[in-house]
Amino acid sequence: MTSMEPEDTDTSIRSLNDINLQDLINKQHQQNIYSNPTPSLDLTSTSTSTTTPNNNNNNTNNNKLSSSSNNNNKSKHNNKDTTTKGKYSLNDFQILRTLGTGSFGRVHLTRSIHNGRFYAMKVLKKQRVVQMKQIEHTNDERRMLKLSQHPFIIRMWGTFQDCHNLFMIMDYIEGGELFSLLRKSQRFPIPVAKFYAAEVFLAIEYLHNLDIIYRDLKPENILLDKNGHIKLTDFGFAKEVQDVTYTLCGTPDYIAPEVVATKPYNKSVDWWSFGILIFEMLTGYTPFYDPTPMKTYENILNGSINYPDYLPPDILDLLQKLIVKDLSQRLGNLQNGSDDVKNHPWFKEVIWERLLSRDIETPYEPPITSGVGDTSQFDRYPEDKDLDYGITGVEDPYRDQFKDF
Ligand SMILES: Nc1ncnc2c1ncn2[C@@H]1O[C@H](COP(=O)(O)OP(=O)(O)O)[C@@H](O)[C@H]1O
Ligand SMILES: [Mg+2]
Repeated sequence: MTSMEPEDTDTSIRSLNDINLQDLINKQHQQNIYSNPTPSLDLTSTSTSTTTPNNNNNNTNNNKLSSSSNNNNKSKHNNKDTTTKGKYSLNDFQILRTLGTGSFGRVHLTRSIHNGRFYAMKVLKKQRVVQMKQIEHTNDERRMLKLSQHPFIIRMWGTFQDCHNLFMIMDYIEGGELFSLLRKSQRFPIPVAKFYAAEVFLAIEYLHNLDIIYRDLKPENILLDKNGHIKLTDFGFAKEVQDVTYTLCGTPDYIAPEVVATKPYNKSVDWWSFGILIFEMLTGYTPFYDPTPMKTYENILNGSINYPDYLPPDILDLLQKLIVKDLSQRLGNLQNGSDDVKNHPWFKEVIWERLLSRDIETPYEPPITSGVGDTSQFDRYPEDKDLDYGITGVEDPYRDQFKDF
């Protein structure tokens, strides 16, 4: 049994590595619906490092990019891309091992040949993106990531493309996925879950203030930096939405009922997922889990949850207000917006300003050597020996679809 008393938090979670490694293999990553398609659902859309990879700290140029289809006058940001298109090329990086694989490609650890620092490079296969009807989401991913500058959100330095692939260069976050830590520890002590939840809250609040819905909140997309602070990564489903949208996307266990029901939905889908995330951190499982995604969706629509007895009343209260089907009742979607979540009694001891300035001691420091490309916190993936990266001068029917890269 690995659950720990709150008082034990600091010391015990620091030694989590030693315990229950077996659990890590017991549950697979929860894949988003594009990696795990469920045939009967329509998947098509209806509608802080400061060193640049080229060691150029004055990271601006005046490339104004063509704006995307989502721009309009009501936008809370000017959508100007001042930095990143075509600034780098594959020749600027040495590709090292794979850090993660996804629906459209993989993420590699790379090293800048200019400054010797390590970066993560997400590669998406254009053909696959097009086949899966994800062109708009992919262009949104790039644009939303570029717009987002926050201590708890991954920083992107630049993008480029070749004839077959799209490339995104980001800071390399060394501490691995929150997912891996959670599986190792089975479940988090309450203060640990609260710490991560509070940092995630600030990231989501920030995105919502920019009218960005994140739409894929889950522990696989939350990374830990060398000090143990979170970085939200994977903007594959992030979208600028002032009002409502319809697209079915996300990861089955985390999808809100109104999305499953293909109703119009808004930012509050992230507050639903936030509730699922807190539930999973505290219990080690998701409330609607079923090995078959269709059954998971049924469970979500049905909406009944068995809350374990060990959850104290204040957490129960928060979860019952977040994981609630009725949108007129869901916390985060009421008159005071995200402030209602922030001011919930469960977060009462959180000093938000200090948290934002990363001035609060983290509950767990990943056991890594920083700055040397340590990948000990990442799972191993089979390497692809025949990478088709860097090919130019052959037919490229999709280039025009990805003009921003
Ligand atoms: N900047 C990064 N630093 C370290 N690892 C990363 C980074 N970005 C992604 N990863 C790893 O790669 C995995 C897949 O990346 P992600 O952007 O989530 O792709 P997908 O859209 O396919 O889920 C992540 O879950 C994480 O393990
Ligand atoms: Mg992901």
